[in-house]
Amino acid sequence: IAQRSSAVSCARTYAIGHRGAPEIAPENTIASLEAAADHGADWVETDVQFTKDGQPVIMHDNTVDRMTNGTGRIDQLTAEEISRLRVKGGGHVPTLEEVLSSLKNRPARLLLEIKGPQTSAAVEHALKLVAEAGMNERTVVQSFDEDVVRHAAASGYRTKVALLRSKLDPDPVATARTFALSAYAVNFKGLSARPAVVEQLKAAGVEVFVWTVDSETDWQLAASWGVDGVITNRPELFLPWRQSH
Ligand code: G3P
Ligand code: CA
Repeated sequence: IAQRSSAVSCARTYAIGHRGAPEIAPENTIASLEAAADHGADWVETDVQFTKDGQPVIMHDNTVDRMTNGTGRIDQLTAEEISRLRVKGGGHVPTLEEVLSSLKNRPARLLLEIKGPQTSAAVEHALKLVAEAGMNERTVVQSFDEDVVRHAAASGYRTKVALLRSKLDPDPVATARTFALSAYAVNFKGLSARPAVVEQLKAAGVEVFVWTVDSETDWQLAASWGVDGVITNRPELFLPWRQSH
């Protein structure tokens, strides 16, 4: 049971569906991404990998083994080969273009994680598709890979970027400035951020999201620290919880 706090409002904490709404439909499928958006998530988070022939597809892992009826590394399979696979639990592996055409008719923003390492040409290709879909203004590209973040920040599309951090940086503001060229956000693992760090980043105009935070107790704690967004596997539960706190 979460502790209620009348002093802390969660009303403005973004609900960010991690790989969509994976407790409703298999992660990163169109059904999952649409479920998050249709439940009212402010953002939908998803993962991009590139095929052997350079096409961006939506998959967290760098192989198709865990999620589909196929096997192999994504960068060793063509887009056509991947299009024939079935996702366990239903659906297919979406292309980035399919996701963009689905989300462009919905109000949710897109938190697009590009898995590294990737060339600047690959990142540019993905951003071109985002721009062509008219989604550039409401997309933020995030990555653990600082080269990917740099490529995105340096692209001609002026796409907003975020740094993903699996542990606390000694100086996250400096890191954000140095590596992400005015990052929109720094996104920390779980509650590895600390209130002082959140405050420091926000004072520098950088937003803070936390991932992957799925319990009411942790939602409450994150909100009490003033984080801007909660990346959760349960957006459909976070949204009504947020409403009532
Ligand atoms: O959005 C943050 C989170 O998705 C990063 O970790 O491994 O789930 O892609 P991962
Ligand atoms: Ca991700």
